[in-house]
Amino acid sequence: MDQASASPNVHFHDAYPAPTDSHPELLRGLRQAPKRIDPKWFYDARGSALFEQITQLPEYYPTRAEIAILSAHRDAIAERIGNGCVFIEPGSGNCAKAKLLLDALQPSAYVPLDISANFLRDAALQLGAQYPWLAVQAICADFNCEWTWLDRLPPGRRVVFYPGSTIGNLEPAAAGRFLARVRKLVGTDGGMLVGVDLHKPSARINAAYNDAQGVTARFNLNILEHINAQLGTRFDTTRFSHRAFYNSEQRRIEMHLVSDEAQTVKCNGETIVFEHGETIHTENSYKYSVEDFAALAATAGLQLQQSWFDAEQLFSVHYLEAD
Ligand code: AVJ
Repeated sequence: MDQASASPNVHFHDAYPAPTDSHPELLRGLRQAPKRIDPKWFYDARGSALFEQITQLPEYYPTRAEIAILSAHRDAIAERIGNGCVFIEPGSGNCAKAKLLLDALQPSAYVPLDISANFLRDAALQLGAQYPWLAVQAICADFNCEWTWLDRLPPGRRVVFYPGSTIGNLEPAAAGRFLARVRKLVGTDGGMLVGVDLHKPSARINAAYNDAQGVTARFNLNILEHINAQLGTRFDTTRFSHRAFYNSEQRRIEMHLVSDEAQTVKCNGETIVFEHGETIHTENSYKYSVEDFAALAATAGLQLQQSWFDAEQLFSVHYLEAD
């Protein structure tokens, strides 16, 4: 269903992303050795609020660094991309980072794409009111599923915006497949602006995921509260501890939850057994050197055109184009 809204520059298209039954997948992960839970389960209401808090922490540099890059280099970025593109943001959330670029970029349309219909509609309406000159075509869809919404894209050169080092949550092979999908969407004349956290000495990265206030620990432990609510499991979060470390060989932050004691957890009639010290792997967050990311993008048919960095060279924003 398409809706014109009170703001004539904002349109909303609901492609009705299929509600996937993730419970079997979640259970499979808990039966595996080592046990694992997909990081998408971090983001219930409390988890999203805790992530918001993480982005404000003194130790957590990625968000601050990326905002600094987009702010300091907005004109150069806009010049590189060119005016009048259709600017598409998968997983747009509150559109805060796109706002840093819109005035300089002057896209012909902005297309926030998100699976959360209500949140997307509110964000699009707010954005449209703030940018009355901008055509906003919000699309409620799962970018990773079939693109039934393609005919809703306004005409024009397509550029995908994927900030936040969100791509780091994917295994490199899966990140390559994601980039290939982006390449397919933007065609031969389009591009991609992507934010990627940089590989660097471990200390700085370890600090970002082991903050002094313990917010990241609460964020990690909250995944158990979320699946308790979703699956009816009975995890006791006081009997697990947060563990995060940079695996510099694999160039990824790993987050785990460690069982503080031998224990069993009831799970809809099933019993999950934990040894003392046994872990649940909850997240990987890959970091890339410029060269490594350029090589990965090249395998997907995207060539690195230009990169921008913050003053401390902690984070990178890359512009890629099809060959
Ligand atoms: C959302 C994947 C970019 O890995 O830095 C922050 C999530 N996890 N602290 C990241 C996260 C723990 C974040 N990303």
